[in-house]
This record gives sequence, C-alpha cells and structure tokens, in this order.
Amino acid sequence: MLYQLPLAPKYSQMTPDELRAGILGFKERLGRRLVILGHHYQQDEVIEFADFTGDSLRLSQLAAEQTDADFIVFCGVHFMAESADILTDERQVVILPDLSAGCSMADMAHIDQVEEAWEAITRILGPSLTPITYVNSSAAVKAFVGRSEGACCTSSNARAVLEWALDGATPETPAGVGRRVIFLPDQHLGRNTAYAMGFPLESMVVYDPRQPLGGLSEDQLRAARFILWKGHCSVHQLFNPAQVAAIRTLPEPYRVLVHPECSWEVCQKSDLVGSTDFIIRTIRDAPSGSYWAVGTEVHLVRRLAQQYRDRHVRSLATIQCLCTTMYRIDLKHLYWTLESLCEGRTVNRIQVDAETRRWSRVALDRMLSLRPAASPAAVARR
Ligand code: 13P
Ligand code: SF4
Repeated sequence: MLYQLPLAPKYSQMTPDELRAGILGFKERLGRRLVILGHHYQQDEVIEFADFTGDSLRLSQLAAEQTDADFIVFCGVHFMAESADILTDERQVVILPDLSAGCSMADMAHIDQVEEAWEAITRILGPSLTPITYVNSSAAVKAFVGRSEGACCTSSNARAVLEWALDGATPETPAGVGRRVIFLPDQHLGRNTAYAMGFPLESMVVYDPRQPLGGLSEDQLRAARFILWKGHCSVHQLFNPAQVAAIRTLPEPYRVLVHPECSWEVCQKSDLVGSTDFIIRTIRDAPSGSYWAVGTEVHLVRRLAQQYRDRHVRSLATIQCLCTTMYRIDLKHLYWTLESLCEGRTVNRIQVDAETRRWSRVALDRMLSLRPAASPAAVARR
C-alpha cells in the first residue's frame, strides 16, 4: 500500500459546503479536460461529483473511452487507477486522490509470490496452465499474466474468461487432459464461477503463497483443474451463512442477493449471485414491494435503498461491510487534487512503467475482447 502524506490543515478546517463549492468551481474551470470516475462502492459525497460511475469493468471501458480528457481523476482504489492508466493514452494523466486507497485483496498476490508459484507449478504441470487474474490485482501481476498468455477478468465476465482459458475442457474432461487455470487473487470468485460452470469443488485446490508449493502435494496439483490463489476481499468475507439463515427467519419474503467475492457457502445459501452490475440491475428491475438482503459493500446497498424506496433493500449483514480503503477518498482529497490541477500542479499521478503497461494491456485487452461473448454477469448457483 502506498502512503498518503497528510493534507495541510486548511482542508480540514473547511466546511463540507465550502469543499463542495470549491470542487464545483474547479470542475468548471477544468471543463472537458477533466473526467471524474467513481466506483459504485464510493461514498455519496464523492459520487455526487463523478461524471461517470460504474463497476470495475465499466470503469475500465469508460477510462479507455475518455480520449479527449487530459486528467482522469479516479475515485476508486489503486488497481483501478492503474488499469485506467494502462488503457488510456500516455499523455493522459490518471490521478488517485488518496494514495492509500489500496485494495487488501490485490495486496494478497505480490508479483514475487506469483512468479515463484508459477515457476514451481509449471515445473510439475508443464505448459497446460493458463493464468487468469481478477482485475483486482497489481499492474505487475496483470503484466505477468499477459506475458504468460493469460487474461484479466472482472466479476462481470469471469465465466466467459474461464471458458476461454479452459479452451474446451469441461467438467467431464479428466484433470490431466486439456488446460487448467491458476486464478488470482480471489479464491472465492474463482471457486464460485467454476462451480457455477459445473466443475465440482474436488477439481479445485487452494494455493497458499506463504507455504512451500502452496501447501499442496504434487499429486494434488496434478489432480486439479483450478488452482485458486489464497486471497479474498476483506469486505465480502464479512458475510457468512448465519446471516443468510437469520434473514430466512424474518416474516418478510426476503431474497438474498450477493456478490461472488462472498464465500461459496454464502453463495450457495443465497438466491442470486452476481457482479456489482448484476446486483444493481436486479434491484432496478425488481417489482415494487419486493424484499432484498444484499451482500456487498454498504455504500452501494444504501444508495440502492435510497434510489428504490418502493423496494425494501437492506444489507445482508447487521455489521458495517465497508471498503475502508475506498472510503479514504473524501471531499478534502478531491478538493486538494482539483485545486492542484487548477494551479498547474499534478499530484498523486498513477503511472505504470512502459514494460508493465505493455504486457498488462495485453491481459486487459484479451478480457475486453471477450466481453461481447460474455455470459450473463450472474454467477448463478448451480
Ligand atoms: P466489481 O466492481 O467488478 O463488481 O468488483 C467489486 C469490487 O470489489 C471492486 O473492488
Ligand atoms: Fe478490494 Fe474488496 Fe475493497 Fe473491492 S471491496 S477494493 S476487492 S477490499
């Protein structure tokens, strides 16, 4: 995680209204040179100023489409800003308003660990392995995957990407025949997607980078179709099967809708499983009066509840499931970032070096080219 130096005291002394008015003024001055992107998990006070909102996939596409903008201020987390830098022109500047807005999941797969694991596993399995990385990973990991003939995926298109990576291998194909996948860094998205495709849990192993050979034997690796990296989202791991059971005891007919970063046990007990985009579309299209318990980041759940007041939308958990790193981006940091641009200074630029950029672009482009053929964003239960 990068470290953000504290802002000057003047920013903390400003009222929210002063910050808002200032941001509006800076936006006006920068005009079309500036685009602000906001992830759906971002807090409302920041989303208010986003020109576009979206999930990880949509924001990657939006970043690539902003060919006129000189500055893309990314109100998300570090890996998203890196993806935006990779997908935009080199002259365009991508800015993350608070450098400490990282992602604990992305931090669970360090490039050194990934290279070491790849070397050890391919020594045993030979060239039959395709690396797939969730976009929630560092640019260095994406570049490694691009160089190793793999691809990125998001929660919206993980199934289409896995189908591509398996190149025809099905649940019926014996493990030693056809392609296998190493899935980084979220074991849950990997497991939930592969299971929904019909692959049994026995075809998957978890690779723990802190243990020799991931804590696995050579035979376990040979018998596996999917090698799932031992990583997870610290927000979605807060949902558990007991919460689903508690919802089921309520008199109202709640349907449980969760993100595939939740554990397999939670997904299996839920009614619907799908990406952030799928969750939004499901609530949007739901009938008035319907009841929904949603297992994803709390800012999105609250916004959906406010937006669709005629549906009953609540979080699956009673505790706050908050992405604390994304939450670091606030009005003060947005104000400071835009004020600096208006004064001719660029702060917090996220810039990926040329070599990493080239290969991570390969992995991202493979993903984006697979998008039209993508299966529905839902990782439906089997
Ligand atoms: P999506 O935006 O792909 O749904 O991923 C959720 C998430 O955890 C973003 O970090
Ligand atoms: Fe990372 Fe989870 Fe936050 Fe997404 S919600 S940025 S995966 S910690």
